[in-house]
Amino acid sequence: MKTPLIAPSVLSADFTHFAAAAADIDASGAEWLHLDVMDGHFVPNLTFGPQLVAGLRPQSAAVFDVHLMVYRPENLVEAFVQAGADYITFHEEAVVHSHRLIGVIHHLGKKAGISIVPSTPVSGITELLPFVDLVLVMTVDPGFGGQTLIPSCLEKIKTLAQIREQREYRFLISVDGGIHAHTAPLVREAGADVLVTGAAFFQAPDKATLVRRLKGLEL
Ligand code: DX5
Ligand code: ZN
Repeated sequence: MKTPLIAPSVLSADFTHFAAAAADIDASGAEWLHLDVMDGHFVPNLTFGPQLVAGLRPQSAAVFDVHLMVYRPENLVEAFVQAGADYITFHEEAVVHSHRLIGVIHHLGKKAGISIVPSTPVSGITELLPFVDLVLVMTVDPGFGGQTLIPSCLEKIKTLAQIREQREYRFLISVDGGIHAHTAPLVREAGADVLVTGAAFFQAPDKATLVRRLKGLEL
């Protein structure tokens, strides 16, 4: 089994000390930094915008993985690119013209991701799979950290991995919600390439050990 990349989400960080959170992520051995952008409409919570991403960019060597939980993400993509995003992921449920938005993100020189909430089947994004760089499978209803992983979502990871192999697509499979040391093995076995971790990461006293556990390199 491959070793997944780890993407800690600053959603569970101390919101008055984001720079310290970024330093903790870099020091932990995690490769990515996940930024959960919420608009109070698509999800019932608000977080931050491109200014925070721009402020953190010079403070971190991680890949910046921006997860847009917003309606009208097309209005924000350019600002997040300028702020330093590497991957920009938007929700299938929030957008009608997804091919166009993927094209815009690629035209701006960045990687494009599509995300599905737990109630959306993989069949809802089949047409997009040849074009995206990442599929973000939500294993909780998005909006808050610290929720419990919905086990039936693991089947979607397996389905995506099968489709990718059969059709020789290249997207990464990222999984987001309720991942901790006990659920990570299920997510890895299902075929995930990237594990997002919020509450588990920021609650862990020894973050490097947690990252090794999530990767399956330590019990
Ligand atoms: C949820 C966010 C997640 C969240 C995961 O709406 O998209 O990225 O931070 O947090 P945990 O790992 O605490 O479930
Ligand atoms: Zn997220």
